[in-house]
Amino acid sequence: MTKTLLLLPGDGIGPEVMAATRTVIDWFNGHGAGFACDEALVGGSAYDAHGVAITDETMQKAVAADAILFGAVGGPKWDDVGYDVRPEAGLLRLRKELELFANLRPAIVYPALADASSLKRELVEGLDILILRELTGGVYFGEPKTITDIGNGQKRAIDTQVYDTYEIERISRVAFELARTRRNKVTSMEKRNVMKSGVLWREVVTETHKHGYEDVELEHMLADAGGMQLVRAPKQFDVIVTDNLFGDMLSDVAAMLTGSLGMLPSASLGAPDALTGKRRALYEPVHGSAPDIAGQGNANPIAMIASFGMALRYSFEMIAEADRLDAAIAAALDKGVRTPDLMSEGMTKVDTDGMTAAIVAE
Ligand code: NAI
Ligand code: MG
Repeated sequence: MTKTLLLLPGDGIGPEVMAATRTVIDWFNGHGAGFACDEALVGGSAYDAHGVAITDETMQKAVAADAILFGAVGGPKWDDVGYDVRPEAGLLRLRKELELFANLRPAIVYPALADASSLKRELVEGLDILILRELTGGVYFGEPKTITDIGNGQKRAIDTQVYDTYEIERISRVAFELARTRRNKVTSMEKRNVMKSGVLWREVVTETHKHGYEDVELEHMLADAGGMQLVRAPKQFDVIVTDNLFGDMLSDVAAMLTGSLGMLPSASLGAPDALTGKRRALYEPVHGSAPDIAGQGNANPIAMIASFGMALRYSFEMIAEADRLDAAIAAALDKGVRTPDLMSEGMTKVDTDGMTAAIVAE
């Protein structure tokens, strides 16, 4: 059966790391994988061609594809275009219309890079944790969301944290299902001591756990204490599930445990389709379009290639192939090849193509 991928390279280094990933996809196709790739514009490049950050036609392709690979969008060229057509609007429209509510951010420390972490080697060596962030609810979207004059030269800003039972239940299910494919442990983080949404969060996670997931170990932690534990002893965690705001912060903290922005993949998953059971999914590196290094052919392609690895794992159930790709990345790093962002003494400096070739060779 053909597997369809929609590639949205975007701007800046997006097309450079996407071309590298295409080389990897071609390798898998040369070994019988059967991926059919389509490509379209998104972000600033779509704005230049069509006056919008993503066209309706591309949205239709996105809905139809088995998985979307997204590069990065934005750059100084588009800093002053209108709010509704700014590059990020393309990504936000995809997230919203595909209802990609589950954001997976793995933090993996490759043995060869353990010294690049903000923490001591022994604390992070072999680290492999997964932060699962609720992506479509919470305080970033809740109403009212206003700034009003309240007299005496004072203003009042209001953001509203809203979570409904179904939103917490569906992200909990994803957490338990992911944990089963890993080390079978979920840590749920909220602030039930000061927030009603935290009370409901804990209640619903606990209830969901009782219905079909009791084989998975579940623990609860207050999100501030969780932040502390994440930098004190990160290896205690397997899957961390948390809301949109806490997940935004905790996943950035976890990113620094691994050292480099050029290494971090992510996945955003939607609800399973009622007929096919298949989840909508978008895979993208955590980094942006890196205008400072765009056009030089020096970008680190690993975050984008590893994002394709997540697509193999979560959209196509090609677990052995995903493991093989991760092992190839680790092996290439073990041999000492480094893009400039990872460069350290005694290592071999390579460009984007060189890193890609080293991974394909492994
Ligand atoms: P950035 O992630 O693009 O770059 C931050 C720093 O990390 C830069 O020094 C860059 O050279 C370096 N870097 C990033 N990825 C790299 C890679 N693969 N290889 C080597 N070095 C890498 O973040 P920044 O500079 O804050 O934003 C630049 C543009 O990207 C902005 O327009 C921003 O809005 C956009 N952006 C887009 C995102 C997306 O498409 N999802 C996410 C974050 C930012
Ligand atoms: Mg963030």
